Amino acid sequence: MCYIKVKNVKKSFKGKHVLNGVSFSAEQGEMIAIVGKSGSGKSTLLYLLSGIEKIDSGEYFLDGKNIRQCSKTQLARMRNQEIGYILQSYALIPSLTAYENIMLPLYMRKMIGSEISGELEKIAKKLLISEILNEKACHLSGGEKQRVAVARALVIRPKVILADEPTGALDEDTAGELLELFCNLCREGNTILMVTHNKSAAGYADRVIQMHNGICTKI
Ligand SMILES: Nc1ncnc2c1ncn2[C@@H]1O[C@H](COP(=O)(O)OP(=O)(O)OP(=O)(O)O)[C@@H](O)[C@H]1O
Ligand SMILES: [Mg+2]
Repeated sequence: MCYIKVKNVKKSFKGKHVLNGVSFSAEQGEMIAIVGKSGSGKSTLLYLLSGIEKIDSGEYFLDGKNIRQCSKTQLARMRNQEIGYILQSYALIPSLTAYENIMLPLYMRKMIGSEISGELEKIAKKLLISEILNEKACHLSGGEKQRVAVARALVIRPKVILADEPTGALDEDTAGELLELFCNLCREGNTILMVTHNKSAAGYADRVIQMHNGICTKI
């Protein structure tokens, strides 16, 4: 069974067609890279898949569930528990420390405890951010902010990871570490959709799809 399946998905903003009928599917455990020119609708696609905004028309199935037929409560549960979304702009709260930013989704789910702290420590170690957890987000470098945003998405142990240019601010070695981590998560059964401009990052994916003129094609 496909873990994610979208069929003929369309989206316009104020009459401007951004997605003109996107169709693709992703299996459980698969990593898919989404490439395409700036403005081709890559971030819009991830945004819609995150369930934050509705698609205009078409179908979207996640783990066999028809997302368009979900109630608001079901949609909120799905966003909270199944999807880890790493935004292109990181979206950290500047006045909070890295640790507090990562813990935020857990506080919101009232999930706090030693098991969680252990999980956070493991993720922080893998992302090489253990030393900066007590720094305020506004004092971090671009690459550090990016990895804190990745940690915040992973700490809820989501089944699906939507990553919008997750290596954009990272040097080659650090990017390699992050992509290896993604590959391991896929081996454990996660499904990852990763937008990237970077050819070597796309090389880690099982498949690459290209956005062009609001539709996507396989490469
Ligand atoms: N909320 C919105 N309101 C109006 N227009 C929008 C909105 N969101 C996206 N767009 C438009 O949709 C188009 C696609 O934007 P999107 O951010 O998805 O591109 P992208 O492929 O991610 O580009 P980049 O590689 O530069 O990040 C752009 O022309 C953008 O202006
Ligand atoms: Mg984008």
